[in-house]
Amino acid sequence: MTNLNRSQAAEAAEDAGSNASPNPTLGEVVAARFHRRDLLRGALAVGAISAVVAPRALAAAQGQTSPFPFRELPAGSDERHHVAEGHEAEVLIRWGDPVLPGAPVFDPRNQTPEAQAQQFGYNNDFIGFFPMPGAQDPAGHGLLVVNHEYTNEELMFPGLGRQDGKAGFAGMSRDLVGIEMAAHGGSVLEVKRVDGRWQVVPDSRYARRITATTPMTLTGPAAGSERLRTKADPEGRQVLGMINNCAGGTTPWGTWLTCEENINYYFGGKLAGDSPEARNHKRLGMPGNLYAWGRFHDRFDLEAEPNEPNRFGWVVEIDPFDPSSVPKKRTAMGRFKHEGAAGILAGDGRYVVFQGDDERFDYVYRFVTEAKVDLQDKAANRDILDRGTLSVARFDADGRGTWLPLVFGEGPLTPENGFRDQADVLVETRRAADLLGATKMDRPEDVEANPKTGKVYVMLTNNAKRKTDQVDAANPRPDNRFGHIVEISPDRRDYAAPGFGWEVLVRCGDPNIAAVGATFSSATTKDGWFGMPDNCSVDGLGRLWVATDGNSAGRTGRTDGIWAMETEGAGRGTGKHFFQVPAGAEMCGPYFTPDDTTFFVAVQHPGEADEEDPKAEPATFEKPATRWPDFDPNLPPRPSVVAITRRGGGRVGT
Ligand code: FEO
Ligand code: CA
Ligand code: CA
Ligand code: CA
Repeated sequence: MTNLNRSQAAEAAEDAGSNASPNPTLGEVVAARFHRRDLLRGALAVGAISAVVAPRALAAAQGQTSPFPFRELPAGSDERHHVAEGHEAEVLIRWGDPVLPGAPVFDPRNQTPEAQAQQFGYNNDFIGFFPMPGAQDPAGHGLLVVNHEYTNEELMFPGLGRQDGKAGFAGMSRDLVGIEMAAHGGSVLEVKRVDGRWQVVPDSRYARRITATTPMTLTGPAAGSERLRTKADPEGRQVLGMINNCAGGTTPWGTWLTCEENINYYFGGKLAGDSPEARNHKRLGMPGNLYAWGRFHDRFDLEAEPNEPNRFGWVVEIDPFDPSSVPKKRTAMGRFKHEGAAGILAGDGRYVVFQGDDERFDYVYRFVTEAKVDLQDKAANRDILDRGTLSVARFDADGRGTWLPLVFGEGPLTPENGFRDQADVLVETRRAADLLGATKMDRPEDVEANPKTGKVYVMLTNNAKRKTDQVDAANPRPDNRFGHIVEISPDRRDYAAPGFGWEVLVRCGDPNIAAVGATFSSATTKDGWFGMPDNCSVDGLGRLWVATDGNSAGRTGRTDGIWAMETEGAGRGTGKHFFQVPAGAEMCGPYFTPDDTTFFVAVQHPGEADEEDPKAEPATFEKPATRWPDFDPNLPPRPSVVAITRRGGGRVGT
């Protein structure tokens, strides 16, 4: 396992949490639709695609032009980042840079938990931007919120290498764990564009670091449940920290939603055999035992504190404009491995948040608030996310779909099935969704609405474990290594409607390898296709941008990055390469300023080894795959946020 990088170790750990529920994969009926729909669309035969999707030449002849007129970036892999011609991509902040006033200078050979807690954390993931109220240039001055998802000890600490749970994390110490805990969580930064260049405002009164020890409140229906109570918190309402915050969202009332994903990795120890939490913890792959935290902190040891895991796996809401505000874990939105929580206003003013549960064979969720959002009085929405309806998606073979509400007492969510109240339904969201017959998806990541078209896009990153007899209409490929994107069309363009239509927008991977079965439009160049869609963003023009996770020289002949993705008209299904990360990195966090003149992206874990390259050595602090962004032989690679702008100004990607 020491040769495995974090992703591989994660996959191994995930197996324990895989969905073992007997939900149907839809069988023959689905297979019938799979063949009919996909053959019609030419999806099974690459050569047939052009018969269905008009090639670019035809589009041009019809007077249609690409919504992405920028010159495409060649795809490849090297130690640096690259952006499409005509754009600048500058590093804004790196792991270890100061966040709080007085933060010590980054010194990775002498790092301490105290220093790390004042500096920018590791593995930046979700990014959100909030314009500064009253600013002269609200698109050039605001707060940037950034998730710090996880840590790579082999790249962060000198002389350590990958630590192995089976070997008792022999190299780890209380201090190293303390640094890891301080490098998790999130950062709030005041940022400003000065003479065209973005910079972090030093010593800002908004600056904040949130870590794995920041006090938080549990709110909503599960708060106070006996299953959330621990020795340190007999009320079940106060929790220390947030962990593995992957993607997220920003709300119209000015708050940051940050989502706890692979929470199982942090827990170790052996749960008592007769624990009432055994089934619950197993469904989440608990304990994942990928970090040594339980060796030094009892609350991360299942034997000592069997309820602590129930206090993680939530959506956390944070007011970035008030550095003293207490983050709130919104239990009404469910507990699972949340990828993100991207929201949009429904026509009637309620807030609708789409959420993916990133695990093979897990689900797509939607939360709809009970109350309407008050856009005139932001404070009136303070606890709006505590009341509402959480639903899970069923994708039917006929191209229709239904949101199935997870409500205690309805359908199978009753005491006979072990649910005593809504708190139980929420703590065990996955099991409740199993019982409702939700559709098992190929790792749902970001789910985002496009306000210009009324459609919703679901990134499904991959699932090599799906067998041929497990394919269904919404997950049509067995051994799905490259993922796909599903497009949801809510009934009557109402995001809160109970029903929707849907179709597969694109199956990802190399369209030139017939066996892959990719369905990019024939206008897509050799640089324009990608695998493993993960995060996404919709800009002000309604254009879809996709960030990927898992492309590499060994796997797809290209690193991860940003690809533009056409969704409308003759060019639908056309990918176009825009940004390339340095070797070993994953692309996260894509987020536009309100005027689309800046596109913030997060370069996560630069320097990890290429897991598909048999010659690649394990990447370490001493021998990383790149030393981006400093290229200083004395410094390890550093996860960093990059600001992309168009040279000479204007909308990015035009
Ligand atoms: Fe944190 Fe779904 O990746
Ligand atoms: Ca997103
Ligand atoms: Ca990711
Ligand atoms: Ca991912």
